[in-house]
Amino acid sequence: MANENHNRAQFATRLGVIATTVGSAVGLGNIWRFPYEAGTHGGGAFLICYLGCILALGIPVLCAEFVIGRNTRSNIFGAFKQLASSGKWQWVGYIGITASLMILSFYSVVAGWTLEYFFQSVTGGLDYDSQDEFHRQFNSFSTSNWRPIMWTLVFLVFNFIIVNRGVKKGIERMSNIMMPALFLILLIFCVNSLIMPGAKEGLAFLFTPDFSKITPDVLIGALGQAFFSLSLGLGTMMTYGSYFSKDTHIVRSASVTAGLDTLVAILSGIIIFPAVFTFGVSPAQGPALVFEVLPSIFRQLPWGEVWSTLFFFLLFLASLTSTISMSEVSIAFFTEEKKMDRKKATRLNTAIAMIFGTLCAMSFGWLDGITFFGLFDIDLFTFFDFTSSNILLPLGGMLISIFAGWLLDKKLLRNELTNDGTIKVLSFRAIVFCLKIIAPVCIGLIFIFGLGIF
Ligand code: TRP
Repeated sequence: MANENHNRAQFATRLGVIATTVGSAVGLGNIWRFPYEAGTHGGGAFLICYLGCILALGIPVLCAEFVIGRNTRSNIFGAFKQLASSGKWQWVGYIGITASLMILSFYSVVAGWTLEYFFQSVTGGLDYDSQDEFHRQFNSFSTSNWRPIMWTLVFLVFNFIIVNRGVKKGIERMSNIMMPALFLILLIFCVNSLIMPGAKEGLAFLFTPDFSKITPDVLIGALGQAFFSLSLGLGTMMTYGSYFSKDTHIVRSASVTAGLDTLVAILSGIIIFPAVFTFGVSPAQGPALVFEVLPSIFRQLPWGEVWSTLFFFLLFLASLTSTISMSEVSIAFFTEEKKMDRKKATRLNTAIAMIFGTLCAMSFGWLDGITFFGLFDIDLFTFFDFTSSNILLPLGGMLISIFAGWLLDKKLLRNELTNDGTIKVLSFRAIVFCLKIIAPVCIGLIFIFGLGIF
């Protein structure tokens, strides 16, 4: 059964593989979500848990997704159909597709915020003197009725255009150029933050782990963030793995992707927290954090508007390389399982995201104060973010690891990880152990305590 679909598109080069998986992983998750999650969960305590999750759960599950994807050359549904003897495993596919559409919806809202800030940078609209004014500006924008919706939809149109052009050309070419540029500009901002008066305090906040602050809440936040940031648990990386060629080194690709992704998140923390303490902002203010702090950073730089324009443009592109990877999950499902043509599948994916994206964008404006059908005490945006990232992704990841660790043919797993024995993989046993025991047990425990099931 394996490798039957030889006509499926493949990534052209090794650099292309890394650039594309890193392109999927690096995005708002690193630059917007990581600092705000770390900020609300106590800084150093969160970072330690997050790193633990990346190493013990993230990298092994990433390997498992690559293995399953490349072996079956199929989307998440088709993959489980080929490999699993029971039809129940298709549920992993349903979880994945639900989560991918939920994430695409609220993610596009935040990507829309970057478009607004890009626009404001170009037109000189970020020229305020005090942190208070930046706070007010973000508030009045995000609670306004039309603008957040407009930018969400504009973003989704961009996403549509790129995805519509197909796998190789559109995605690969753009990732190759833009990711290094983003990395470079982050390094420059890092140096700038390190010479701020609040640098010491900011770095201490991020890097001093206070173990007494590790609560179930922190653990579940860190787990969700690790999965979100690595694009894991819903078959994104599986779909990308299905475009790998036979000699792609899976373990190395997974490690490089995780390493670079983590590096970007930490760089982002090094940029934000010194500024947070310099400008006297609360680190625990949630999703608004980077949108209120970054403009203050840019303002005190020479040619502030230029930096700010460039940064928000690159962040927009980084978001785009992430959303195209999310879209690929449901599009591959619609085309390969439901036999839709690609154009129609892309349109359907965009339409769903536009509807739910609009509702998420309205969460702070029109729908402000309206809780999710009165069931939960949170708005739709937060509900989508929390449920998809902190529950559906780890749940999907847990099932994928159980499947790869216990049910997948051991020989198949070994052959995929070692490219039929042609490469040595020293960590093979550790990866299998994590997939079999560590990942299911840890995710299970974090669920039980973090969600208050006990
Ligand atoms: N990892 C991306 C980020 O950090 C977001 C992302 C892309 C994602 N594809 C995904 C998250 C799939 C979860 C699942 O911005």
